[in-house]
Amino acid sequence: MNRKPIRKAVFPVAGMGSRFLPATKASPKEMLPIVDRPLIQYAAEEAIAAGITELIFVTGRGKRAIEDHFDKAYELEVELEQRGKTRLLEQVRNLLPPGITCAYVRQAEALGLGHAILCAAPLVGDEPFAVLLADDLVDAKVPVLRQMVDLYDQTGASVLGVQQVPSEQTRQYGIVRTEAGECGQQRIVGIVEKPEPDKAPSRWGVVGRYLLSPSIFGLLREVQPGAGGEIQLTDGIAQLLPKEAVLALPFEGVRYDCGSKLGYLKATVAFGVRHEETGAEFRKWLGESGVVTRGC
Ligand code: G1P
Repeated sequence: MNRKPIRKAVFPVAGMGSRFLPATKASPKEMLPIVDRPLIQYAAEEAIAAGITELIFVTGRGKRAIEDHFDKAYELEVELEQRGKTRLLEQVRNLLPPGITCAYVRQAEALGLGHAILCAAPLVGDEPFAVLLADDLVDAKVPVLRQMVDLYDQTGASVLGVQQVPSEQTRQYGIVRTEAGECGQQRIVGIVEKPEPDKAPSRWGVVGRYLLSPSIFGLLREVQPGAGGEIQLTDGIAQLLPKEAVLALPFEGVRYDCGSKLGYLKATVAFGVRHEETGAEFRKWLGESGVVTRGC
């Protein structure tokens, strides 16, 4: 079947990052590095690996560093060139492959994830698109958005990336209820934002990856403030369910919640031990220093 290709990805990056204060007082949480690359770089690379060519960032106050990160850095490049630091120069120059465009739109007020997505509507237009929350870092052999696009290509349906979450954590996620459909697909029949454990329809939590039909925009315009007094993307998706197929994909890969200190530390170690430059030495040090067993 001839489906519209998914060309555009929206990155909502206006959030405050309060769980990482004071580190995020003057610097966006999406710029926190996992070893040597900021979180937003991992998310951009995942999108590009899934065939995305247009990156749309929904930014806010204090987020200029994200624009600068993806922009050309003339002075830095000249400096690296003059010092003969060719490897670093290549890394700085090739953050995005040729043919990838970036667009930025501001979310003036922090009115919620659904509102952030709505801010991107004029740039997305009438085509299906991806949403990636950069603080959900997924380490996977096949990038998770690629897995989702493959399912979209087969079905034409919207797709949400999900994983099982501990019962006491349902209040941190959008939680879905699914019914088995054709070919083992999981059709979402209910979704609720941050339910208490006893109200949660399942333990399948949405983890920061969405492929959405453009019909979501009209629905989001009607959504009233929900959990936390915010315009929730989850509530827009709930309105979409009776109208269009939305599938849950329990993707393959390890997800790190880099919006939390613990998840961020785990990701740093997981990516650190296999980093080409420092991995071997880091592994050795972790084993020998006693820091893991003694805690100091
Ligand atoms: C957002 C969404 C939530 C989703 C979560 C994944 O919540 O609103 O539905 O499960 O991201 O990380 P937040 O973590 O921004 O509060």
